[in-house]
Amino acid sequence: MKNIKLNNKKILIRADFNVPIDNGEIIDNFRIEASIPTIKHCLASKASVVLMSHLGRPGGRFVEQYSLDPIAFALEEILSTEVMFSSDCISDDAINLSAQMKPGEIHLLENLRFHKGEEENDPIFSWNLSRHGEIYINDAFGTSHRSHASNVGIIEYMDNSAMGLLMQKEKKYLSEIFRENHSPTTLILGGAKVSDKIELMENLFSKIDYMLVGGAMAFPFLKVKGYEVGGSYCDLKSLSIAKKIISLANEKNVQLILPDDIVVAKKLAYDSTIEIRGVNDVGNNEAGYDIGPETTLKFQDIINTSELVIWNGPLGVCEYPIFSTGTEAIASHLSNKTNEGLITIIGGGDTASVINSNSDLSFTHISTGGGASLKMLGGQDLAAFKMIENNE
Ligand code: 3PG
Repeated sequence: MKNIKLNNKKILIRADFNVPIDNGEIIDNFRIEASIPTIKHCLASKASVVLMSHLGRPGGRFVEQYSLDPIAFALEEILSTEVMFSSDCISDDAINLSAQMKPGEIHLLENLRFHKGEEENDPIFSWNLSRHGEIYINDAFGTSHRSHASNVGIIEYMDNSAMGLLMQKEKKYLSEIFRENHSPTTLILGGAKVSDKIELMENLFSKIDYMLVGGAMAFPFLKVKGYEVGGSYCDLKSLSIAKKIISLANEKNVQLILPDDIVVAKKLAYDSTIEIRGVNDVGNNEAGYDIGPETTLKFQDIINTSELVIWNGPLGVCEYPIFSTGTEAIASHLSNKTNEGLITIIGGGDTASVINSNSDLSFTHISTGGGASLKMLGGQDLAAFKMIENNE
């Protein structure tokens, strides 16, 4: 986008403002903050800016709880300037307002998914959206794996289209970085389901040296290695995937590092009584909910030798503070090492939410994408990238 002349132009930006909102209050504004550099760049070039996004899955009709109204206030606060808001993204009023905007003005459109045409990638809806601007910029990384009107269909109706600064940054750290030589490279994987991350592992195995596994994801691997995991989450499908991944790791020379100890409890509750168990010592009536202290130290030792670390998935059930110790310890260690020069890339979704709850931590890049970051790390083509790269 830096190669396009933006002066005095109307810039239509597709952002991803799909943020958690409770009773009109924004719970986490990470994605809004991440969209600011592109908006500021346009404003600094004396352009006017029309912003559009989806929020939630309202199913093609107006649903009050998914209104983008609170986002307008959040943007006003961050940018210290007025943000005009239109209550229908393709109404005549909204399109006329965009047409009359002066340099430096900002106009936010109501939720795109209040119209069925957005998810159906409807050409008429795309064309109507395109009437809001002269230049189109896609900066909605979180939605880049979707093929919708506002990120794919619209491009046909715009003379000038470009990728925003956030999209470029995400691509740099979730894809292009692997073309550089950073050795050793370590992948930390957590979260609940091994099946969500098969493609990611298959793609990254030729690029990494270590894979450290925590969270519920570790149990199928431990079970395949012959350990009893008690009542820990472990389904049959995950066992066959774990077997396949273990042999792929051997074949690709990736050192697969599993927990030596885990934090167990008889029930998952805020007031559970917890115990630390070696992985060969888990009782039938208990289940694992976090990595243990020895495992945390072992993971930290490997991080200390690494040049690049990619982390996707919490290492315990972090919704419960007593089971978030391992995740927090690894997060703060990675943050310290980032300050010493380690390149740290944090996947979006659950991992980003846990990390963002502590604003003192610093990482090289925290992805704004959930499904999109998994797909990009999995080496897949993302619909919106393909479209914009063919038309830039
Ligand atoms: C996300 O939160 O992952 C993106 O905003 C995409 O949302 P969606 O899964 O509802 O398409």
